[in-house]
Amino acid sequence: MKMNLKKVLAMGLLCAVGCGFTAMGEAGSFKLSEDVKAPTIALKQAAQVGLLTHETAELQNLADKDAILVMSFGTTIKETREKNIDATVNAIKALYPDTKVVVAYTSHIIIDRVKANEGLVIPTPEEALAQLKAEGYTRVAMTSLDIIPGIEYDYKKAVFNLHKNDFKKVTFGTPLMYWQGQEGKDDDVAATMQALATQFPETGKKDAVLVMAHGTPHPANAYYAVMQDKLIDLGYENALLFSVEGWPAFDNVLEELKERKIKNVTMMPLMMVAGDHAMNDMAGDEEDSFKSLLVKEGYNVDVYLHGLGENVDVQNLFVKKASQAWEALQAK
Ligand code: CO
Repeated sequence: MKMNLKKVLAMGLLCAVGCGFTAMGEAGSFKLSEDVKAPTIALKQAAQVGLLTHETAELQNLADKDAILVMSFGTTIKETREKNIDATVNAIKALYPDTKVVVAYTSHIIIDRVKANEGLVIPTPEEALAQLKAEGYTRVAMTSLDIIPGIEYDYKKAVFNLHKNDFKKVTFGTPLMYWQGQEGKDDDVAATMQALATQFPETGKKDAVLVMAHGTPHPANAYYAVMQDKLIDLGYENALLFSVEGWPAFDNVLEELKERKIKNVTMMPLMMVAGDHAMNDMAGDEEDSFKSLLVKEGYNVDVYLHGLGENVDVQNLFVKKASQAWEALQAK
């Protein structure tokens, strides 16, 4: 078969990224092929797939002093923060009772509001790493409470890359949903959908569950299509996913409800916390909330107002992600 140079180069990169990942347990992380003799920085960055590990050569003489950094978007609403973010962080802390576990928020607006409202000082990821370094920590396992690898996850990945040389060793785990069962990897999407389904009510032919995700302009928005596919695979054909800010939108699922002659709908957020989007956009009494729009269309509507952090099965998946980052930090 004749191939042009472009095609050969593209395949070379795919193979560089995809062939020969390190034996790091089920989390795994890809590694450039040994055949690439002098990879450029750009090629190394492009190969950053999965769990990331960095060791700074000049700092290898330092003694190990380990910490875990858990990063979340955050929320200003105290009750849902405690039930979801704090509960998940506590589950991670429970697994590592002798290890320093620090929490950072990525929403600078939320950090400012929480400080103003409650006097609670929560660092950004950058500040948390600077603080850990100042306290003499030399190795950090970074983990995120992100749902998909979108903009929020990219922010944390950028922090990893900008600060990794400040430490002897740093690892960064994958978000709740990352792997999709490819090349023997975990199927995070199926595992998450299975965990989500523990919240589903019993449903009949005229019932549907509407799962409200956030939505993003990031290409990771495509994960929603994978989630919907996994829901169907798992036998939850009456669970329909839509997002507030991305695709599929509310109008798309509304059409589907009509086609299927659904009468009763249960709505729930696919979000870490039941915050502003869940309480107002989804379940609010204003006439443009999704609940009100459904009621206006004649549906009986139930709302399940709980964040994913309250779901014990989801919590366990986050704990697993944190422990993968921790195990990679401990690996020789
Ligand atoms: Co939002």
